[in-house]
Amino acid sequence: MLLTIPGVLEAQEAASFRQALESAEWSDGRATAGYLSQRVKDNEQLREDHPLAQKLGTRILDLLERNQTFVSAALPLKIVPPLFNRYQTGKTYGRHIDGGMRPVGPHRVRTDLSATLFLSPPENYDGGELIVEDGASERAFKLKPGDLLLYPATSVHRVAPVTRGERLAGFFWIQSMVRGNEQRALLFQLDNALRLLGRDVPDHPSLVEMMGIYHNLIRQWGES
Ligand code: NI
Repeated sequence: MLLTIPGVLEAQEAASFRQALESAEWSDGRATAGYLSQRVKDNEQLREDHPLAQKLGTRILDLLERNQTFVSAALPLKIVPPLFNRYQTGKTYGRHIDGGMRPVGPHRVRTDLSATLFLSPPENYDGGELIVEDGASERAFKLKPGDLLLYPATSVHRVAPVTRGERLAGFFWIQSMVRGNEQRALLFQLDNALRLLGRDVPDHPSLVEMMGIYHNLIRQWGES
């Protein structure tokens, strides 16, 4: 499931993120890439322990916890603290797949879902689309500042070369309570349908059973 979640950050807050990131010290993005990805990765990142990355990352996690669409779609169990990257003119990240586990302190987080939080206005740069392969086809994304793209971490993806301007983004991974993409997508569909039924026919007695099915599936498929 590829899902765009608009307005995770308000436009004004996305602008203040950009402003703070402008004056930060950036490092070579290859530091966090695996041996194969290092060959195709050419961007910059804030170090994981950079105080600004920690501050902005914490803010993103706070907002996501309260974002109903994100919680329903991702069913998050653990989230890798967000990182930030910068692609200036000529920078790119070729075809790759994200590592299956990310170390967080002494622990590991399984990367079921990848997320990119777009921060730069699309008109500020050319190129720089996030391109996600989906079987034989591919889809390109260039979202508004503050919008989030959620996509299966199992997908091969790339960032097209930036040919003008600068592209800033936050990115992170989610270990979901429900490992399988298909099961998670079904639960998201069911949750959305239940929400609408709860609004339109809140007194229908079968609603309780339907809700029970949702939660019993979570018990069946979920892990904690
Ligand atoms: Ni990636």
